[in-house]
Amino acid sequence: MGAPRSLVFWCLLSVVLTQRVKVRNEVTGYVGDEATLQCLFPTTSSDVKVSQVTWMKEMGGKKQNVAVYLPDHKPNFPLDNSGRIRFLNVSLQDATLIIQPLRMGDEGTYICEFATYPHGNEDGVTTLSILARPTNTAESRKVVAGNTMIPVAVCTSANGKPPARITWIATLPGNFNASEVTNGDGTVTVTSQFNMVPTAVADQEQITCVVSQRTLTEPENIPVTLSVLYPPQVTIEGYDDNWYVSRSEAVLRCVAKGNPKPTHYSWSTPSGPLPPTVQVQGDRLLVQSVDVAVNTTFICQVTNSVGTTRVEQIILVRAQPNMDGAGSTGGIIGGIIAAIVAVAVVATGVLIFRQQQKNRTEQDNDDLDGPPAYKPPPPQKKIEDPELDLPRYHELPTLEDKEPATMGPSLEDEYLDQINPIYDALSFASGEGVPEQGFIMSRALYV
Ligand SMILES: *[C@@H]1O[C@H](CO)[C@@H](O)[C@H](O)[C@H]1NC(C)=O
Repeated sequence: MGAPRSLVFWCLLSVVLTQRVKVRNEVTGYVGDEATLQCLFPTTSSDVKVSQVTWMKEMGGKKQNVAVYLPDHKPNFPLDNSGRIRFLNVSLQDATLIIQPLRMGDEGTYICEFATYPHGNEDGVTTLSILARPTNTAESRKVVAGNTMIPVAVCTSANGKPPARITWIATLPGNFNASEVTNGDGTVTVTSQFNMVPTAVADQEQITCVVSQRTLTEPENIPVTLSVLYPPQVTIEGYDDNWYVSRSEAVLRCVAKGNPKPTHYSWSTPSGPLPPTVQVQGDRLLVQSVDVAVNTTFICQVTNSVGTTRVEQIILVRAQPNMDGAGSTGGIIGGIIAAIVAVAVVATGVLIFRQQQKNRTEQDNDDLDGPPAYKPPPPQKKIEDPELDLPRYHELPTLEDKEPATMGPSLEDEYLDQINPIYDALSFASGEGVPEQGFIMSRALYV
């Protein structure tokens, strides 16, 4: 731990001692902007004399003078005297150079040099990098589905500096490669292709081009929707294996996917023309009334610009409706009907019970003039009497109490008519009786 640290320290110290010229390692700027190439020589001792400052640029392995200053002389700029290059301060301690506006050609390595006495020349090196923000675009290529790997999308980062790096994000299997072209102005255009085996499944899928470049604070993501042309994929829907003679409104539908979207559908049979009883409505084949003429195979043929696909549907016309498999549906319907009937029975029972309760209470109050605490005897008597083959309804306690057990059915019915108008409608005996309330129901249901 100690050894590397002290090594670093001595290296830094030596730099400080020998490299007294203060420069930045790298300066960046955009074309048209201003670049400041800092260069300072802070003289710490009056023993050191500076006689000249010079900026040089490395060009093709040689050094070219860019800016020269001597005391008592005008600063000179041998490479470009147009005023685009100048000193920030005219000074023997500060040789900071300004270049404005920047040109692509200004990029390079610059050396700032102070001629001193007694130590000789002291210098610092700065790299000036010119940046250019690229224009990034990506698009899919219209490709036809096939078996070989081909470029399906292209991403371009144009006129950037330094060159961009392009990658792709894709869930589909594929790879990518990139190529670079250096433009006349020194910028670089990078092009990357995403390659894959184009399949119908990849059509309309999205992949993303990711461009990274120094001038971009974060990578730029450009989504691309793939476009793979493929011939129609066709199915025929609507045959339920229950086409029987004289069935009405049997329909077949030809369902097709494709890129481009298929628009042309054609129906036929193996023998050629369609039976006269069918109607074609685009992708639909309508049979108003099924007959033996449609006991055949129907062919749907769909075409787009890529190709043509034909599929067949064999139709079996039956003499009778196909009951196989209808069990489940029938069972469900039967269950629903049973449930409705059950609900109706229960509801009816409740209504009758309430009616009886109400009537009984009224009867008790009118006839007995007593409190309703009156307790009727048990109904066994009625059951003991075999002659009275009456509905259970007759076993009401109020009835037992009011009338003797020996009472005939007609009398009893008369009584029941008084206490309960519903009974009127239910009773076979009193056919002429009309219910006072509009409540009529089947006796069978009640019993
Ligand atoms: C339809 O054709 C099949 C044989 O392909 C035959 O078994 C069937 O009886 C035919 N249907 C009618 C209604 O003739």
